[in-house]
Amino acid sequence: MQDFDVIILGAGAAGLMCALRAGQRGKRVLLLDHAEAAGKKILISGGGRCNFTNTGCVPDRFLSANPHFARSALARYTQHDFIALVRKHRIAFHEKTLGQLFCDGSAREIVGMLLSECAAAHVDLRLNHRILGVTRAERFRVETDRGSFGAASVVLATGGLSIPKMGATGLSHDIARQFGLAMAEARPALVPLTFADQTLELMRPLSGLALDSIARCGRAAFREAMLFTHRGLSGPAILQASSYWREGEAITLDLLPDRDATALLLAGKRARPKAEPKTVLSELVPQRLAQSLAAAHLPPRVIGEVGDKDLTRLGALLKAWRLTPSGTEGYAKAEVTLGGVDTAALDQKTMMAKTVPGLFVIGEAADVTGWLGGYNFQWAWSSGWVAAEAV
Ligand code: FDA
Repeated sequence: MQDFDVIILGAGAAGLMCALRAGQRGKRVLLLDHAEAAGKKILISGGGRCNFTNTGCVPDRFLSANPHFARSALARYTQHDFIALVRKHRIAFHEKTLGQLFCDGSAREIVGMLLSECAAAHVDLRLNHRILGVTRAERFRVETDRGSFGAASVVLATGGLSIPKMGATGLSHDIARQFGLAMAEARPALVPLTFADQTLELMRPLSGLALDSIARCGRAAFREAMLFTHRGLSGPAILQASSYWREGEAITLDLLPDRDATALLLAGKRARPKAEPKTVLSELVPQRLAQSLAAAHLPPRVIGEVGDKDLTRLGALLKAWRLTPSGTEGYAKAEVTLGGVDTAALDQKTMMAKTVPGLFVIGEAADVTGWLGGYNFQWAWSSGWVAAEAV
């Protein structure tokens, strides 16, 4: 059996960061993954350009049963620390919107950077290893289909359940349960919402249409683009709202942010009484949507003959369209997994299990989920870093 100081399970964002920092601290690090390549989710992230952090990363952009849990790690390894690393490697980047930083070139540069830091820190990276089990006597023992390894510390970094096709598994959750750690219920998040019946009939022909909107779910509100799909709704505003949505609840959409829809419709009626309602409406929202809303909510007359009451009702709908999703597109399409290892079981300064000395949980495997916009990678970097300081 080969022996190490620390064995990290999962060579994704969090595992790579943890490995490189532990290696820099002089630890003998083994980084194991069942995939044929490290950082596969980084490669597909941000449309291939990796939204690697957010300049406005603050703890209230994260969901967790304990909203304060992420504070310590985020403060100890900040977005500025990661940006400094990116600069050190001369990777060109830009801010797209809302503080979101993307590579100018390719996400491959971020994976290349992490791998070269790991190599410089003498991390032993082994891919294509199937992990069969983890046990603990005096030290931890990790069994794989290619041999067994021992270490004083084990870091669970195999992420969440999102995108099984990319190799996501519940391994970290299973091992955490095996060691008696509590779990927060896992569910898909940052995920498209699905609709049924008449609502879907109305949405389906609009598939592909995007518009600026405010999506609200409970007290959360996100102003970004939304997109109609053949199954319902997607786009950044909807993905953000999905993390707050629960079965049976409604979401509310403002399709005309910053504008008074009713006043505009009534003004349109006075100015052009002979126009069709869909023509006036199409000056406010995209034509296809105007057509379908007019057909569904207004009588088939010129706008001058449509009652103010009907226009006021449509104006109210444009500002607060209440819709109840039938579900989500699930882990197959979810960018992240909400829930995971309960933060109450972990020390927030080190990510170590309170009841199992030497066992750490980092990244998406823990119950900390960021908003869309680089927050999830920042959590992976920050949690990976603080664990590496403690292994
Ligand atoms: P991650 O999933 O990165 O890594 C887990 C590793 O464990 C993988 O290498 C996997 O192969 C390995 N593994 C899993 N099961 C195993 C097993 N049984 N045995 C051995 N190894 C196993 N976030 C963001 O901030 N900006 C962005 O631009 C995007 N974009 C984005 C796009 C898409 C399509 C998705 C699906 C997700 C994003 N995200 C994102 C989210 C981000 O990718 C995610 O939060 C982080 O990758 C989580 O990092 P982890 O290291 O925790 O898990």
